[in-house]
Amino acid sequence: MTIDVSYTDDDFLYEGKAKYLFEVEDSGEHLVQRFKDDATAFNGKKFAQFEGKGQLNCAFTTHFFDALNDAGVDTHFHGRLNETDMLIERLEIVPLEVVVRNVVAGSLSDRTGLDEGTPMESPIVETFYKKDELDDPILCDCHVEMLDLVEPQQLRDLKAAALEVNDVIEPMFADAGMRLIDFKLEFGFNAAGALVLGDEISPDTCRIWDAEDDRHLDKDVFRRDLGDLIETYEEVADRLGVQVELIED
Ligand code: TMP
Ligand code: ASP
Repeated sequence: MTIDVSYTDDDFLYEGKAKYLFEVEDSGEHLVQRFKDDATAFNGKKFAQFEGKGQLNCAFTTHFFDALNDAGVDTHFHGRLNETDMLIERLEIVPLEVVVRNVVAGSLSDRTGLDEGTPMESPIVETFYKKDELDDPILCDCHVEMLDLVEPQQLRDLKAAALEVNDVIEPMFADAGMRLIDFKLEFGFNAAGALVLGDEISPDTCRIWDAEDDRHLDKDVFRRDLGDLIETYEEVADRLGVQVELIED
């Protein structure tokens, strides 16, 4: 399906660490999200560029958001426009990084002293404050309430939606011989006030381990200098059946 939207580089709205946003000439309800080749870690302290990463992450996000839309999860994704760009619904983003964890790793291992790879009985959902100047600290529900970031019921809805996303995407990895260890989501409110899943889902925002040998198949290869990022992302795309090249219709 071809989506007909009009935008140019002059319609630039916002630059984040991994993506740009552009305005489109419509009612104002849509934006274009463009994936960059940039990789950052540790709140921008580590930086590099990898040719093709933008295209890969646009393809991953298309793949997962298509599956989530099909499963009835409300997402901002309206379709891929070209190699790096997708049409999205304009959201007012909640300043929370919502992390779902199936297995102990990363900052949960640092915080608890549990070894990376320690299994968990059921998934958990954590919230981090999106605030670069504070290095995105973890927030308890009482802090989210105190800061008035979302209403208590909205926080419960947001966590339930994050677990629904896990229910959809975790089996996609398992079926391809990979373990979805954890991942980060962002949510926002649309013009009608509904809570909608935004941002991206890609190996930049997930921890993915090979089911056989626990090889890291995500941005930890860059954060921890474990291997070639593009080769790793291409392997994951291939195993998941993600369509990276565009087929004109
Ligand atoms: P963490 O273990 O460092 O808290 O990361 C948990 C998950 O969130 C992991 O899959 C990587 C992802 N993540 C992001 O997407 N952006 C971030 O800024 C951070 C810190 C983690
Ligand atoms: N937040 C991203 C990460 O480490 C990038 C960054 O912090 O610069 O996953």
